[in-house]
Amino acid sequence: MTLNLQTWPEPIVRVQSLSESGIFKIPETYIKPPSQRPSLNQSKPSISPDSTQINIPVIDISGLFSAEASRHADTLDLIGSACRDWGFFQAVNHGVPVEMLRHTRETWREFFHLRMEEKQVYANSPVTYEGYGSRLGIEKGAKLDWGDYFFLNCFPESVRDMEKWPRDPVFCNRKELTAEYSQEMVKLGGRLMRALSLILGLRENHLQDAFGGEDFTACLRANFYPKCPQPDLTLGLSSHSDPGGMTFLYPDENVPGLQVRQGEMWVTVETVPNAIIVNIGDQIQVLSNGKMKSVDHRVMVNSEKERVSMAYFYNPKGDIFIEPIKEFLAKEKLKPLYPRMTYNEYRLFIRMNGPRGKSQVESHKSPN
Ligand code: OGA
Ligand code: NI
Repeated sequence: MTLNLQTWPEPIVRVQSLSESGIFKIPETYIKPPSQRPSLNQSKPSISPDSTQINIPVIDISGLFSAEASRHADTLDLIGSACRDWGFFQAVNHGVPVEMLRHTRETWREFFHLRMEEKQVYANSPVTYEGYGSRLGIEKGAKLDWGDYFFLNCFPESVRDMEKWPRDPVFCNRKELTAEYSQEMVKLGGRLMRALSLILGLRENHLQDAFGGEDFTACLRANFYPKCPQPDLTLGLSSHSDPGGMTFLYPDENVPGLQVRQGEMWVTVETVPNAIIVNIGDQIQVLSNGKMKSVDHRVMVNSEKERVSMAYFYNPKGDIFIEPIKEFLAKEKLKPLYPRMTYNEYRLFIRMNGPRGKSQVESHKSPN
């Protein structure tokens, strides 16, 4: 089969248009096979009396900025356990101005509520994915997710294609907002990269250096999940692990939807006000030789409320090799579980195939 990477395999349908058309039944294309539907796989309260209480760890990360050594060490311990056991945590007291976060997200909401003609100007293609999109992957006939998005390269500034950044009316004079948000996420990313290095027993800059130092990359996906008349048959975003380094998600705190896999259960994240949800991506799983986990997650939709989230992806430079860190392997006396590969090569898979659980990082595992 030859794959055309230049164009989408079928005409693009905006999920928002479907949602607003007033249909009672969703088109066949969005109906997931029964095993993937949200209600069948959900966390079952019967597993333990407390399972409705299960949530991803909530961690006060202000200890990372503390001069008090024991507080700093305790915070590292909490982050380390979360990255091993869950691959996810909610960071509170993260130092990012929450007014700015909320304002940026609401500006994206306004964008998605513009008239369709105004948004279509930014329609994206599978070449770079930048702009307004409604599918991931280019496989003809694939089942699609109930969501639209806007994807932007944010860092370094030289990769910003300002033609793709939304202009008037909602972004009039507010492009800076996304730029400021990006700057804050980069700062947070740097801090967490130092923390993760220390957790792995490496020098503070080790992970950042492995990402290409100052030449790491970052991008934003603003996700828009419109109301869905049959939320039990579909997903806003199918199960996937994030291919990059680390992700910072600012969710819609009023509308639950994100689910994280924990063993055989899907745990619905209960968001804490003003938290940033942090998760480990495939590249840090590879660098840490599987010690830190990139865990699959997915998004449910609902019939009552739309949902807007901002996912910021903190990634390695595209063309350097990512492989289990030698010093870490030596220290722990481990054999490398993954072969080396550049991030550019790696992400082609998800760009062609769309979200597919954790199949990619696992399929690259070295046999032993
Ligand atoms: C993502 C993602 C979750 C959400 O964009 O990769 O997992 O809640 N988003 O929108
Ligand atoms: Ni994700």
